[in-house]
Amino acid sequence: GTANIGVVGLAVMGSNLARNLASREGNTVAVYNRSYEKTETLLSEHPEAGFVGSKTIEEFAASLSTPRTAIIMVKAGAGTDAVIDQLAQVFEPGDIIVDGGNALFTDTIRREKAVRETGIHFVGAGISGGEEGALNGPSIMPGGSAESYETLGPILSSIAAVAEGEPCVTHVGTDGAGHFVKMIHNGIEYADMQLIAEAYDLIRRGTGKSPAEIADVFAEWNTGELESYLIEITAEVLRQVDAETGKPLVDVILDQAGAKGTGAWTVQTALDLGIPVSGIAEAVFARSLSSKPAQRAAATDLPGPSDAWTVDDPETFIEDVRRALYASKIIAYSQGFDEIVAGAEQYGWDIEKGEIAKIWRGGCIIRAQFLNRITEAYAEDAGLVALVTAPYFRDAVAGAQDSWRRVVATAAHAGIPAPAFSSSLSYYDGLRADRLPAALVQGQRDFFGAHTYKRIDKEGTFHTLWSGDRSEISAVDTH
Ligand code: 6PG
Repeated sequence: GTANIGVVGLAVMGSNLARNLASREGNTVAVYNRSYEKTETLLSEHPEAGFVGSKTIEEFAASLSTPRTAIIMVKAGAGTDAVIDQLAQVFEPGDIIVDGGNALFTDTIRREKAVRETGIHFVGAGISGGEEGALNGPSIMPGGSAESYETLGPILSSIAAVAEGEPCVTHVGTDGAGHFVKMIHNGIEYADMQLIAEAYDLIRRGTGKSPAEIADVFAEWNTGELESYLIEITAEVLRQVDAETGKPLVDVILDQAGAKGTGAWTVQTALDLGIPVSGIAEAVFARSLSSKPAQRAAATDLPGPSDAWTVDDPETFIEDVRRALYASKIIAYSQGFDEIVAGAEQYGWDIEKGEIAKIWRGGCIIRAQFLNRITEAYAEDAGLVALVTAPYFRDAVAGAQDSWRRVVATAAHAGIPAPAFSSSLSYYDGLRADRLPAALVQGQRDFFGAHTYKRIDKEGTFHTLWSGDRSEISAVDTH
């Protein structure tokens, strides 16, 4: 065959990725879709791409030069398994199958193991940046074998976004590491979006500014330390006017947030790993709460705060909200990176945290200036146990915390939900606490279940004879 790379699945993401590949020097791109119609449309709409189209999977395999490399871009789930099976039948040992969808990383681990037995390489690659990113340069998070990355690396580098001269792609780790890191990216994306939404809500309800005026606030924020794609698009969404009603679009969009599952996976995985990603969890739950119309309708007459709330100085309040957003955002990233560390340990991946922050600087949904600070933090201390404790972030939070506390207190006082702001602050205070009431929880556990406890002043495991004479005995750890 003549093509050096193939794409299977030609919906928007697949077509755009194929066009991106075709636009780079040296690539000839083979394309295949289950129904040939989509292939024909792509070929006729983009003759400049020089695609090699195939009607059957056999022809597709034959159109590729060896070792064959194909990127699957289909909706994650059972469809992915079907396409992998098809490709595995027509590919040969040494060929590479890449899954570029949002697969659950444990599926990727399973698939990699199964495909490896045939001698074919299987690479799960997280691809972020939506439709536009796929076309012009996404951030790419490939897992799989180091050997397959030798072939794949240059191809992916050629189409990835470029941040400060570097392509936003790195070999994340083996088997499911790439999809794991993409999942964390999405969890952080959820938190970032929710925090921005809370900031908007507080400003709107606190100052009475219109969405268009708040768009200006966000545009201004986008010139400072909060500079990011999500802040930028927030301003654009807020500025949009509905053609039909003449109202701000945000006021006519139904306030029930959807979710395709990657945020929930981040939290489910974090629960299994025992990592408190509370900001991300609140963001996922905030979407769930919004999407419960029956419960919300039943609750509309529940009482709110008895005192009225007024903002004395809108400018000061907005600056407080900005700082609260920045501090909460630091917590969300800190928690996300904690989960990466825990996942890497659990699944045996050697993930370089600084490299992950680097490849998120461009192309992806959470792209931001801020990620440079994360790379620097890990460069200074590779064994950093919590990102928020790195000097830069420590100082940033120190500078923001008074504002952060005022905003969370104000939200509670005003009856405005700010779950991500407030849980992030609680996490911060929990993390830095000298003593936690976990000691009391241990006492309670020991009381009702003889679950035992440890002491601060001596080695060993202890139990108090709660239903006896309440003396303490040395006990065997029953964990
Ligand atoms: C990206 C996005 C992309 C998508 C997710 C989240 O990195 O390009 O994360 O993968 O937007 O599917 O979508 P939901 O909000 O529907 O879960």
